[in-house]
Amino acid sequence: MDLNLSYRSFVLAIAQNPSVKNLVLTRGKGLSRRFVAGDTLEEALKVVEGLERERIHAILDLLGEMVTSEEMARGFQAEIVGLIRALGARPYPRYVSVKLTQLGLDLSEDLAFSLMQGILQEARQADCFVRIDMEDSPRVDATLRVYRRLREEGYTHTGIVLQSYLKRSEKDLEALLPLKPAVRIVKGAYKEPPEVAFQDKRLIDAQYLLLAKKALENGLPTAIATHDPHLIAEMQRWTAEKGISKEGFEFQLLYGVRRDEQRRLAAEGYTVRAYVPYGTDWYPYLSRRIAERPENLLFVARSLVQG
Ligand code: FDA
Repeated sequence: MDLNLSYRSFVLAIAQNPSVKNLVLTRGKGLSRRFVAGDTLEEALKVVEGLERERIHAILDLLGEMVTSEEMARGFQAEIVGLIRALGARPYPRYVSVKLTQLGLDLSEDLAFSLMQGILQEARQADCFVRIDMEDSPRVDATLRVYRRLREEGYTHTGIVLQSYLKRSEKDLEALLPLKPAVRIVKGAYKEPPEVAFQDKRLIDAQYLLLAKKALENGLPTAIATHDPHLIAEMQRWTAEKGISKEGFEFQLLYGVRRDEQRRLAAEGYTVRAYVPYGTDWYPYLSRRIAERPENLLFVARSLVQG
């Protein structure tokens, strides 16, 4: 198994420990600020304005996932609708990401579908794009089904995510092609078993390039979402060689990660978006960011000691 991936599994496993969670929640708020724009929409919008000054657009993400009641799901939907309304009044590109488990997918697929319909109706008024993030592997089928139903209902301003660590993703992309979906390609952020996911970085990276290139060859509006310098460089080289215009795709990175690279790509004329999470439910998001990079664990240890 790849060392980086065993580190990731380790961090994602200890993040489930109640004492670790409690410690980070009580003392790690400062730490969350490296990756999270703030608790409130107002704080997030200030971050968006700062990014816009650097020609980087934002993808706003109200943190929250795996809700356990319909009331919570409806509460998140109301907040997301409020977010879209707030964006509608602003001059910059409008783009949000949502997770279907935030909208009750684990309770009922129909509930998540109908709450998404409400979000997409509002988004249509506000000329806002809505990306459906992809979660862990047991939820992929349901997420793709909800996406397909939304497309059948005529909602075109929404898109899907494919994870290159999942062995199934190439087949999923092929099956989706007739819909001409807007796709975001990522490596994948969850702890997944070897039965469903590649554990070797080389295989994950190879499938990443395969998926991104296949999406672009088929003319799909494609978001290349990675911080990996080798993958970014290869996609820059390959798109230039194929004569694919810079309008045909975009680079997406996470707020707080490789800011220099975000600015560099924007200065070179690429569309660059930063994924900007905000809200109080930051613990699962932060755990995944720490799991992605060993250096981030040192950062956690320092923050917890300093309080
Ligand atoms: P990789 O992990 O190999 O990192 C390459 C380099 O990037 C590292 O060496 C380091 O320099 C830098 N880097 C990466 N992560 C870092 C971090 N946390 N802190 C500091 N430096 C870091 N996943 C998912 O399962 N479903 C989803 O819907 C999404 N959505 C999404 C949107 C956007 C815009 C992005 C950028 C990413 C996602 N992801 C995601 C997360 C994705 O699956 C993946 O976990 C991270 O992007 C990290 O993988 P990289 O491709 O960056 O490569």
